[in-house]
Amino acid sequence: PPGTMDPASQQILHWAAQHPANQAGLVRDDQGCPVPSLTASLGIGSRGNLLLQDVFLINEIAAFNRERIPERVVHAKGHGAFGYFRLTHDISTLTKADFLNGVGKTTRVAFRVSTVRGARGSSDIEREGRGFAVKFYTADGIFDLVGNGAGTFPIRDPMLFNDLNRSRKRNPVTNVKDQTTRWDFGSLRPEGIMHTLKTFSDHGANTRVISGFGVHAFKFVNKQGVPVFVKFHFPSQQPFRWFNSTEIELIAGLDPDYSQRDLYNAIARHDYPRWLVKIQVMTVEQALKYPVNPFDATKVWRPEEFPLIDVGEFILNENPVDQFNDMEQLAFSPERMVPGIEPSPDRMLIGRMFSYPDAQRYRLGINFAQIAVNRPIMPVKNYIRDGFMAENPNGGGGPNYFPNSFHGPGQNQSAAQSVFHVNGIVDRFDTVDDLDDNYRLARLYLYKDLTPEHRRRVARNLGGSLAGARRDIAERAIRNMFLRITPEFGKQVRDDMLEKIASNDISNDE
Ligand code: HEM
Repeated sequence: PPGTMDPASQQILHWAAQHPANQAGLVRDDQGCPVPSLTASLGIGSRGNLLLQDVFLINEIAAFNRERIPERVVHAKGHGAFGYFRLTHDISTLTKADFLNGVGKTTRVAFRVSTVRGARGSSDIEREGRGFAVKFYTADGIFDLVGNGAGTFPIRDPMLFNDLNRSRKRNPVTNVKDQTTRWDFGSLRPEGIMHTLKTFSDHGANTRVISGFGVHAFKFVNKQGVPVFVKFHFPSQQPFRWFNSTEIELIAGLDPDYSQRDLYNAIARHDYPRWLVKIQVMTVEQALKYPVNPFDATKVWRPEEFPLIDVGEFILNENPVDQFNDMEQLAFSPERMVPGIEPSPDRMLIGRMFSYPDAQRYRLGINFAQIAVNRPIMPVKNYIRDGFMAENPNGGGGPNYFPNSFHGPGQNQSAAQSVFHVNGIVDRFDTVDDLDDNYRLARLYLYKDLTPEHRRRVARNLGGSLAGARRDIAERAIRNMFLRITPEFGKQVRDDMLEKIASNDISNDE
């Protein structure tokens, strides 16, 4: 709990112990000039007006007013750390990606885990989706794996992304979350069933112990140019601990930064969190013959069909030095791939490839990749120049156009993406009715992957949330989503909802 002398609460004490008194020197402003006072403004006498020429006061006011930048439009509440990825198994037959070639190779990583719709000050233990993002600073540039804690996503067409989020964010009039809109959208777009079950499972509450998933299929290409499709998995190696809804509400109220504190303390105590890195592989032939779309983010590839293959591990062993520099300005984007890793035709992935850098140009500015935490370890050489806050050498005296006769950097043919053929009718295909496989996977998840007790808890958590929605919409969700998994499960959810309503204790869980 907050207030105890855990490492997070002692941070400032440690700093002071390492920085003896009288050694910090005297204050200088951001232009290097000595500052005469930090406590008294420049004024006329002791009671008269203040003077506009007090640049030190003006600087203080102006800096404070500009401290906050736009928060991430989703995933605003999050925390993370740094560490390293180590390749433990050779997968050079599958990909030429440098960091995945050469057993034992280590690559620095930045990691951030987040809730999805909570604002920056919200609780990080609420029942909700979880973001799970890993930035690999590889010798061939940045690879960002911007995944989540579920392994699926509630929609499979990026056109629905804004609607999905608006239905779950705060009501624009009341500014409170609305179970009716949440289940309205959910029951009208039931392809999100797997994701819903995961969110209401024991894995729907945030701790440093969650496992992560890349969700989308990516294309791996090896040195011979042969492609395969892969999905990433990051099984957590931390002992699992789940919370029931009452515990979540209690912890959220007592310590909205519970998960943040937990991760910080674990690293400060040298109890470094560790995840394995595994992949599932689907050949192009398998993808072509697969009975349903294998590039559908609402679904998983079952491990019985596509077993998990060991790749490596990543370990977090460094807390951020400064949360704003290291976490708030950290920019992950699914479009940042390295040679050997390419997009699959997953439409969500392709939508995201535009969305994230666009969001970051707005949130951090056009030169966000020059912020220290986002910089690749390789020197950047290109012909892009200028823009707000350009901080790199900006091309120096070299040519600023290409082609040129003056020794500017050349093109790298070895980074060319794999060639592939496409064939199809250009149209808008709505997939709302294509649900059989979604229910099949939901059934397997509930009845094969979960224990009966865990399944029971999922129903209870769902019932608790549905109890807060308008009754006809809750009934539609039960009809369209849960009864279609099995009549038994649907009935259990409804019984739990009715019990919750009768107890007059409506949960505000998602
Ligand atoms: C953050 C859009 C789907 C995981 C974000 C951000 C945007 C966004 C704009 C904020 C980026 C920033 O300001 O830095 C979208 C769109 C999606 C989509 C348009 C679908 C079309 C997904 C999916 C996943 C996911 C499928 C997981 C597989 C994340 C994570 C973050 C994030 C982990 C936070 C990254 C961080 O810690 O900085 N998303 N998203 N999103 N999204 Fe998505």
